[in-house]
Amino acid sequence: MDIRQRPIGVFDSGLGGLTVVQALRDLLPAEDLVYLGDTANYPYGERTLEEVRSFAFAIADDLVARGIKLLVVACNSATAAALDDLRREVPVPVIGVVDPGLRAAAKTTRTGRVLVIGTRLTTTSRIYELAASRLGHQMQVTSLACPEFVELVENGLADHPQARLVISERLDPMLSARVDTMVLGCTHFPLLARPLSEVVGRRITLVSSADETAFEVRDLLVRTGWSRPLEDGVGHLTVLTTGDVASFRRLGGRFLGGPPLDVRHHVLGGSEGLRIAR
Ligand code: DGL
Repeated sequence: MDIRQRPIGVFDSGLGGLTVVQALRDLLPAEDLVYLGDTANYPYGERTLEEVRSFAFAIADDLVARGIKLLVVACNSATAAALDDLRREVPVPVIGVVDPGLRAAAKTTRTGRVLVIGTRLTTTSRIYELAASRLGHQMQVTSLACPEFVELVENGLADHPQARLVISERLDPMLSARVDTMVLGCTHFPLLARPLSEVVGRRITLVSSADETAFEVRDLLVRTGWSRPLEDGVGHLTVLTTGDVASFRRLGGRFLGGPPLDVRHHVLGGSEGLRIAR
């Protein structure tokens, strides 16, 4: 099959990576996308690096077996746990969300004081602090774990008044630290953009990695000549979940601002015959 016609694979522990799917659909409307939400193993942020790494490899195996041309790790926790290993071992290019999120912060901050909110796994891995020094960004990065924000999204409470209370309880103590930029270092968090911005106010700019990640995907497709031609029409989105199909369909559709999604159940490790060595 012509590589240009192959889909882009995207995954997360659940619904959060749909924020990256949305950005990809906006920027690259012709591309076919296969999204896998690993809800059966959610929350990644509360698991060990080894566990998340093994889920990431099982998912990469399954998506590669579906013929993807590149893999987007639309999850900060999985990026922290597995990006380098995936890049070494998966036979297609792999893009994570941490460097794009930092790039977005670097473009925004004036004071250089940046707060990253993410899962426990992401913040304890210190991946943002390490990436900032690796990329040479002059930033003072502080990370804060907010695992309960992920639950708000997965439990369908993103628009519920309770969301604002939960967010304010966690973030209020941080707002006195003189940060001017807050990185949504978990792909679930853009789905809480409204209550988050109500709590942090205008002084702090929220940045997410979704758009920057989509730009990185576009640059790679342009560089390689792998873009699906626009004349081929609007790309198709295939959505798979390892968890409950009905709630993924309902919440996923709501988050993408459209009708319920067409979602199929997926069992990890279903791609017999193709195992990536590790
Ligand atoms: N969306 C994920 C992230 O970006 C993980 C949420 C979770 O499963 O804990 O880190």
